[in-house]
Amino acid sequence: MRVIIKEDYREVSREAAGMVAGLVKSKPCCTLGLATGSTPLGLYNELVRLHRDEGLSFARVKTFNLDEYYGLAPEDSRSYRHFMDENLFGKIDIRPENTSVPDGRTEIDKLEEYCTSYEEKIRASGGIDLQVLGIGSDGHIAFNEPGSSLSSRTRIVSLDPQTIRDNSRFFNKGERVPEFALSMGVGTILESREILFLASGEGKAEIVARALEGPVTSMVTASALQLHPKVSIILDSQAAGKLRRLQYYRFSEEAERKIRMPLF
Ligand code: F6R
Repeated sequence: MRVIIKEDYREVSREAAGMVAGLVKSKPCCTLGLATGSTPLGLYNELVRLHRDEGLSFARVKTFNLDEYYGLAPEDSRSYRHFMDENLFGKIDIRPENTSVPDGRTEIDKLEEYCTSYEEKIRASGGIDLQVLGIGSDGHIAFNEPGSSLSSRTRIVSLDPQTIRDNSRFFNKGERVPEFALSMGVGTILESREILFLASGEGKAEIVARALEGPVTSMVTASALQLHPKVSIILDSQAAGKLRRLQYYRFSEEAERKIRMPLF
């Protein structure tokens, strides 16, 4: 795992956008795996800026989102489909038909078939080249709550009460926060060729340390990233605050930069 520590959220977002943009330039028909929530917002804003000011084109890019609340229609303002349209897809030149977000209105008796077909669609697109991830306060990636199998696939999951509390900030007071979601599994995520994991803020420091430096366990599904061969972890200094090997990560990033620097 490559651990990159940046001063603040803005720098985390710019570094992450640089990596996504690098892939889109070198492989214009790439497939991106995308997350929602507060963490990737800065990354999406920066990608929109790169599209607007520097002509970065997403015309041939395909995307798959990690998850969607079960029961919410795509046009619902709290749905993850709406979040993606508002914050990214509607502001770049991606073709709507090349974007996939699990359909939260899939009928209950068609769920298994639907989740299998979501995975087949990912495979048919050539697989995910780069998967963007955030981390929940209970250590989840996508909505793989503690106890999810580390080889789980796309399925319906019941959200942890902690996640429901965390997500209530996106809902009006008194509104019911969904208790279920459709989510890619940990096994699905681990099949991505490369992973870009982002976290910022003091509130994530403890769980980030458990995920990166603790045992690999289904109790913290983000810890499964330790098993993936190509993960970049980008943290701000607050989210990195509880890492035991902090000095080493800073040192190895510096050493890597020197190696990449032309000598003459
Ligand atoms: C969202 C997702 C979740 C979030 C996580 C962190 O698509 O998959 O795992 O990444 O809950 O959310 P924020 O970034 O809002 O702290």
